[in-house]
Amino acid sequence: MYVCESPVGESRKTKTVERQNSAAGTNSENAMNTKHNDPFPWLPLEPYCRKWGISAGTPIDRYYIDQFLHRLSPEIRGHVLEVKSDDYARRYGDPNRIVSVDVLDVLTDNKKANLHLDLAHADGIPAESYECFILTQTLNLIYEVRAACTHAVRILKPGGTLLGTVSAVNRISAEDGGLDDDYWRFTSGSIRKIIEGIPRASHLRIWSYGNVLACCAFLYGVPAEAIQPDRLDYVDPYFPVVYGFSVIASELAA
Ligand SMILES: C[S@@+](CC[C@H](N)C(=O)[O-])C[C@H]1O[C@@H](n2cnc3c(N)ncnc32)[C@H](O)[C@@H]1O
Repeated sequence: MYVCESPVGESRKTKTVERQNSAAGTNSENAMNTKHNDPFPWLPLEPYCRKWGISAGTPIDRYYIDQFLHRLSPEIRGHVLEVKSDDYARRYGDPNRIVSVDVLDVLTDNKKANLHLDLAHADGIPAESYECFILTQTLNLIYEVRAACTHAVRILKPGGTLLGTVSAVNRISAEDGGLDDDYWRFTSGSIRKIIEGIPRASHLRIWSYGNVLACCAFLYGVPAEAIQPDRLDYVDPYFPVVYGFSVIASELAA
């Protein structure tokens, strides 16, 4: 049986949800079992783990992000920028091809970061600074997402690569953001619309990861190790967990 540690720093129900349930004069469990002849009573109302199954294994979105960065690892080269830590650059980049890794975070108390600024207002980073920007799981937390992507491309050298991942399905962030600062879930259409029209953004490629089983298991906090790899690797583009995308920065316009 899969057991998860208790969540830290998070009440099991938010006040908002409690208010909604009491305003409706019911609770979700009664609604499920008495108003309808519930044919799926085994589907739990609460996840097995509220933190993506992290205490039992690899969160399913990270299983896919690992695949994406492994596939694009030749792009991790030269002067690299990453958000929050240099973990992915060090894990997937060839050390012989990396010149330096800068770490960006809006949080000034992040000691792993040497650049403390908001990516949506990143004028402090000179244009054409990096060969690669690893921008994983951050755009969901930035309200001004187009401005952030515009800076992400602006700071790339010509031929440099933006490696991004965004959640299509995810619980509200338990660590960064939370209810107030977790803004977006993406589709391939919204990624395309955001990137198209950004100066110097070219060769956009998008990879969809996941299927309905993976979506449900991820939300329930089931770790990747608990699901057969061929079932996780089946791609149903209508039920993505996460997207990976790459963008090449072209020469500056004359
Ligand atoms: C969920 S982490 C993702 C980054 C990490 N590389 C990863 O893959 O787990 C999100 C990080 O983005 C930072 N962040 C949120 N909004 C930001 C912004 N506007 N500019 C720069 N960093 C931001 C957060 O403080 C946090 O460190």
